[in-house]
Amino acid sequence: MNTPDAQFRLGKSLVVAIDGPSGSGKSSISREAARRLHAAYLDTGAMYRAVTLHCLELGVDFSDAAAVERAARDLDLSISTRPDADSVRVAGTDVTDAIRESRVTEAVSAVATTLGARSELIRRQRQIIADSGHRIVAEGRDITTVVAPDAEVRILLTASEEARLRRRGDQLGGTQTAEQLRQQVVARDAKDSTVVNFRQAADGVVTVDSSDLDFEQTVTAVLDVVRSVSHQ
Ligand code: DC
Repeated sequence: MNTPDAQFRLGKSLVVAIDGPSGSGKSSISREAARRLHAAYLDTGAMYRAVTLHCLELGVDFSDAAAVERAARDLDLSISTRPDADSVRVAGTDVTDAIRESRVTEAVSAVATTLGARSELIRRQRQIIADSGHRIVAEGRDITTVVAPDAEVRILLTASEEARLRRRGDQLGGTQTAEQLRQQVVARDAKDSTVVNFRQAADGVVTVDSSDLDFEQTVTAVLDVVRSVSHQ
């Protein structure tokens, strides 16, 4: 069967869960896959970043788990799920660019490793998936295992450390030193993986290794998995 991607499984549930480490190309690949599938797109990392920015602005002590959890619960967050509209708002203020600043990247693991804040964000992510009518590509670190373990399609998108450092460096326009990049990619993944396992594919999760693939080849590989898995 050769259904165009935009028509694929129309009227049926199509939740595509994609996890992977930083610099694996998850966000841009997932966004493009969502466009082609005419599906919604959810960047769950943006939600952890929004909580982190909010904590930084309120001066919340990151070692105070109860305070971080409270900040996550109280956050008035709205995140666009249209693949063509990258927009994150906190209490009506546009923070789409601010959540990508290095002060946020450096602090975000403190929120990601606060279990109370995670439960609150997981609850919101499940609600967003339901609100999409279950036609969505959702990406992060624990989507295949915790947020949507019953998704029709579950993918672990990996890449070698070398490829991930290079991509993140390109993404940041060559502004970072090798050491800063290492902190933002390797050290952050090491911290984050103390609470979620996104380094090995769980049972039933298909690994796509993008180390030697360009953007288009990676999107194609992901869509191939979507078609094959959700035909069953
Ligand atoms: O993908 P990213 O770099 O924007 O993610 C920001 C942080 O959020 C990252 O350090 C790990 C954390 N995260 C998480 O723990 N679980 C998710 N589902 C998504 C992101």
